[in-house]
Parts: sequence; structure tokens; C-alpha cells
Amino acid sequence: MALLEIEDLKVTFKTADGDVNAVNGVSFGIDAGETLAIVGESGSGKSQTAFATMGILAQNGRATGSAMFDGRDLLTMKQRDLNKIRSRDIAMIFQDPMTSLNPYLRISDQMAEVLQIHKGMSKRNAVREAAIMLDAVKIPDAKNRITMYPHEFSGGMRQRIMIAMSLLCQPKLLIADEPTTALDVTVQAQIMDVLSDLRRDLGTAVILITHDLGVVAGFCDRTLVMYGGQVMEEAETGALFKTPTHPYTKGLLRAVPRLDRDDAALQTIAGEPPDMSRLPVGCPFSPRCDVVMDHCPTVRPPLETEGNRRRACHLSADEVTS
Ligand SMILES: Nc1ncnc2c1ncn2[C@@H]1O[C@H](COP(=O)(O)OP(=O)(O)OP(=O)(O)O)[C@@H](O)[C@H]1O
Ligand SMILES: [Mg+2]
Repeated sequence: MALLEIEDLKVTFKTADGDVNAVNGVSFGIDAGETLAIVGESGSGKSQTAFATMGILAQNGRATGSAMFDGRDLLTMKQRDLNKIRSRDIAMIFQDPMTSLNPYLRISDQMAEVLQIHKGMSKRNAVREAAIMLDAVKIPDAKNRITMYPHEFSGGMRQRIMIAMSLLCQPKLLIADEPTTALDVTVQAQIMDVLSDLRRDLGTAVILITHDLGVVAGFCDRTLVMYGGQVMEEAETGALFKTPTHPYTKGLLRAVPRLDRDDAALQTIAGEPPDMSRLPVGCPFSPRCDVVMDHCPTVRPPLETEGNRRRACHLSADEVTS
């Protein structure tokens, strides 16, 4: 059974200019210990999918559908129960660690508090446990530096601290939303290594949200491609990179720099991401698709399973790859 199973998730925001349909019927599952990437350009609904699941949508947002975690629906759960699951079983880390770290508290106090509350540990044991975790994310001299304040660490070190903090209670699922986007490429790679080692050691399932396909390759078992708040394609990561069978996935991959290819071949997808309050009734990608057919803008292609893959396109996989 899947650890988290999302079914027909829709997220709508009420605004002065009308409804913004940020997520339009997304379904996917993730098993215990698995790693799943959610990729897609800015505005494709990646974060709102995660926020809806965690019950942290903005005030003007509403979610429908279901998000079954361990057999219970997160979308209809009482706030109290959801809070419990959020702190113990599902953790989330964001792009900017400063939004989650308290600038006025020493790292030791913030980390220890988590363990004191959720594991009933004494302060002394909690600080010791926290230092071990900081060591695991490779903060040099963790035992002494744990008493420092967030601003005394670099951006990369702060993101390591966030990872350590999110994994303190050994959650079953970690949702990482652009965890390395604000960092330079070298630090980015280091953080992904740390995350990779930790998830292997702890068996944590991870949903990695990113618009950078390059980050996904070495880390995730499966990759889900989103556009216009819908799933375009999902496959095992290696297979998706080798043979993308959706025109949008193909476009995204052409924009990823590769060592085995001349940079002149790098192309971004022409056109603009869609206006989420005026999506076409058919395929959301149809206005930018270079193999678009007459009925694409008016008939929405269903998301169909073909072997180990799911794809939503009126063309067959063969037609797209040939
Ligand atoms: N509170 C809100 N009110 C209205 N629209 C919103 C609100 N929050 C998000 N949106 C819209 O929802 C859509 C999806 O946003 P989302 O944050 O999920 O994108 P994303 O795929 O995470 O993009 P990025 O890669 O830039 O983080 C966007 O069009 C965004 O403008
Ligand atoms: Mg986002």
C-alpha cells in the first residue's frame, strides 16, 4: 500500500480577478522509502500540491480530492490530528531556511524543543541527539557550533540545519520544496549528497519538488512532470530522461545542460507558462506544443497508464519519440 496516495487533487484560489485553478486533478502515490521528484516550470502547481497535502494553503485557497496517508485522509482530518502527523510523520523543508528557523533562538534550543515536545526527551538528551544529527548533515564541529544562532551560519549550512531538524523525529515522509534553489551549484550538490545519505540510512520517503531537472537525475526513483496544475507524464527517472514520451517533458529536457552535448543544442520552451485563471479546456500545454493537433486545445487528454509510465497526450508515445 502506498504511504501517501493523492487522488484527483484540485486547488482553487479565490481572487479579485476570479478563480485561479492552481492544481487541476492531480493523482499520484509514493511508497514507503521511495523518492519521487515533482518537476515543471514555475507556476505549474508543484508547491500548491504539497501545501494542500500538508494543510498549509493560503487563506484564499481550497482543496478538494483526497490525500490518504497511512489510511487517513489529510484533507478532511481535524486540525489537531493533522498537526500531530505534520510534526511527527511528515516533515517539510523549504527553499529559504530562514522562513523556518527562529532568528532569535540558538540552534540547540530550536532543535531540542522538537525532541522535548514530540519525544518527551530531557533538554540535555535532546541537545545531545540534535548534535548527532548536525554531525550527520556534516556541520563541522557540530558539538560546539550547536549553540550558535541561525545568522552565524552560511545559507548552505542553514539548509543542512533545516534538513537535520526535519529528520529529528524520523518522519516517514519528507517533502523538500526547492531545497537547494537558493544555493550555488557546488553547495547544491553537497546538500543533495547529505539528503541522499540520510534518506538511505533512515529509509525516509522523499518528495523532491524542483524546476531543475538536473538535480533529479541522481536522486529520485520516479519523476512526475507537471504543467498547468496537471500531470503530463510520470515514469521511472532513468526511463523518463532516456525516452520522454510527452512533448512537454521533451521540451524540459532540451533545456537541461548536458556534458555529452553541445550547449548550442540547449533550448528553452518557446512561449509563456499558462495563466491559471484562463487555462484551455483541453491540454494546458497545447498553446506551446510544437506537435499540437486540432483537437488538443479543446479535448483534455486523459492521464493513461502504459506499462510503468503514465502520460496525458493525444499522440501515442511512439509518435512523440519518433
Ligand atoms: N494565495 C494565492 N492566491 C492566488 N493564486 C495563488 C496563490 N498562491 C499560489 N497561487 C498561484 O498558483 C499557481 C501555482 O503555484 P505554485 O506555487 O504551486 O507553483 P510552483 O509550481 O511551485 O512554481 P515555482 O517553481 O515558481 O515554485 C501559480 O499560478 C500561483 O500564482
Ligand atoms: Mg514552488
